[in-house]
Formats: sequence, C-alpha cells, structure tokens
Amino acid sequence: MISGHQEYEALIEAKMRQVYSGEVIDHALHPKNLGDMKGADAFGRITGPCGDTMEIWLKVNGGVVIAASFVTDGCAATISTGSMVTELVKGKTVSEVLRVSQQDILDALGGLPEGNRHCALLAADTLKKAAKDYLAFQKEPWKRAYRKH
Ligand code: FES
Repeated sequence: MISGHQEYEALIEAKMRQVYSGEVIDHALHPKNLGDMKGADAFGRITGPCGDTMEIWLKVNGGVVIAASFVTDGCAATISTGSMVTELVKGKTVSEVLRVSQQDILDALGGLPEGNRHCALLAADTLKKAAKDYLAFQKEPWKRAYRKH
C-alpha cells in the first residue's frame, strides 16, 4: 500500500523529471559527500549573487584530493552541483581541481535549466576557493593556526 508521504514524494519526483536530468535528480535526492569534514586540508565558502552559500572541504594527500565534502543552503540544483563536484574531484591533483569549470559540472549532470546554470558556477567557484586555500597553506603553513575550519 502506498502512503500519502510516498505519493507526495513520487509527485515531487515526477515534477522534477519535467525540468531536470536524471543525474541532477539523483544527486539532489541522494546527495553524495554531504556534510562538513573534520581535519580537512582545505576549505572554501562562497555566497553567490542569488544569496545561496556553498562550503567545500578537501582532504589532500601527496597533492591529490582523496576526499571532498560540501554543505549548501541552496536549492535542489545547488545540492546536485555540490554533490557532483565533490565526486568529480576525487583522485585529481590540486592543479587539476583548479581547472574544474562550471561547464564540466553541467556536462557531468547532463545540463541544468537556464535559470539554474549559475548553481554550477557557485560549485566551481567554491571548489576553486578551497583549492586556493590549500595552496596558500602550502606556502604559509603557520596560517593554519588561525584557521576556523
Ligand atoms: Fe542560488 Fe542555485 S539558486 S545557487
């Protein structure tokens, strides 16, 4: 027997399928790498022009990203971009991470509606900020003493 809650979920998913790719819906409903990270080597936070914020943490070993996580207060599309970008970066060097673009995220998600393309830019920019944070600490490790994340 289908409960009211399941019916409601199915209705929402059907509505989402009219607008978003299957990949976007999957990452939005079952986000990967969601949550902050203890002992991260890098952190980035950006609030986009729409007012949504994304935070990304990276764990780096030997210059290679071995784990990534994110948090956002944004919409379903923003959740899917955070989820996808934290999957895309695993196994990449920090210099490769710096080159991950809005278009790379859009391609991996099978696109986003015009009004949500900026969500992928927020994810790409936040990722870059985290990668730059890592590089800054490599140059001046003493700054870690002042880090809050
Ligand atoms: Fe603001 Fe997606 S709606 S980042």
